[in-house]
Amino acid sequence: MYKEQVDMTRVPRHVAIIMDGNGRWAKALGKERTYGHAEGAQRAIEVMTAAVDLGIEYLTLYTFSTENWNRPEAEVSAIMSLLLKYLEEELFIKRNARFRVIGEIDRLPKPVQDVVRYMEERTKDHTATCMVLALSYSSKWEMTNAVKQIAAKVKDGEMSIDDITDKDIDANLSTSFMPDPDLMIRTGGEQRLSNYLLWQCAYSEFYFTETYWPDFREEDLCKAIVDYQNRQRRFGKTGEQVEDKK
Ligand code: FPP
Repeated sequence: MYKEQVDMTRVPRHVAIIMDGNGRWAKALGKERTYGHAEGAQRAIEVMTAAVDLGIEYLTLYTFSTENWNRPEAEVSAIMSLLLKYLEEELFIKRNARFRVIGEIDRLPKPVQDVVRYMEERTKDHTATCMVLALSYSSKWEMTNAVKQIAAKVKDGEMSIDDITDKDIDANLSTSFMPDPDLMIRTGGEQRLSNYLLWQCAYSEFYFTETYWPDFREEDLCKAIVDYQNRQRRFGKTGEQVEDKK
């Protein structure tokens, strides 16, 4: 059991997940893609619950990308319905978990916007895992916004170009309230970031698995964490320097 192998004193603070493979999982069973999303939504809830048990501080799930708006309307609307169904279950309230969203919320259907805003407000003082759903999110959208905000401050004389640091870029991203991901997991066999947290993953550890998202369970999360815990994070330093600091 991987769960027993997790070193609870060194759990990654922030785990980000690209939940890929719902469509292929459903197709392999001869079912519609939306069946895969429905099963995937249940896994998302299970993994969120596991994150609370493991004491992960932030869990960011890539739920709907800016590019996903190009999918067939029926599939988009099925994913939106799943959000309404599962966010209303108030798992966050039962487990004292915080809920946040990153992305272009204004593009979401009004009922989804309402639930998301209500849940953010309702859970803002919760102290267990912060569950962050990326909805209508893409890194390029987010970075473009950050550039516009910084440019506006320069234009208004609030800051000068020479004063801009990477901290200012951090502060103008939608993720400014959380640390960068320690561990980035992608299910479904592909090995790419697909416009997700590009800036924030500068020093993240990557974990790719062939497992389709609807088959990804608590044990798979623990396996990824054990793998992460067996790596040495050097942040550009030498292995010896990192060892000396221990
Ligand atoms: C990627 O698989 C998955 C998505 C684009 C949608 C993810 C949405 C959910 C799991 C529902 C979320 C609900 C909650 C409550 C968080 P894919 O469709 O791209 O799979 P494929 O690569 O096999 O086609």
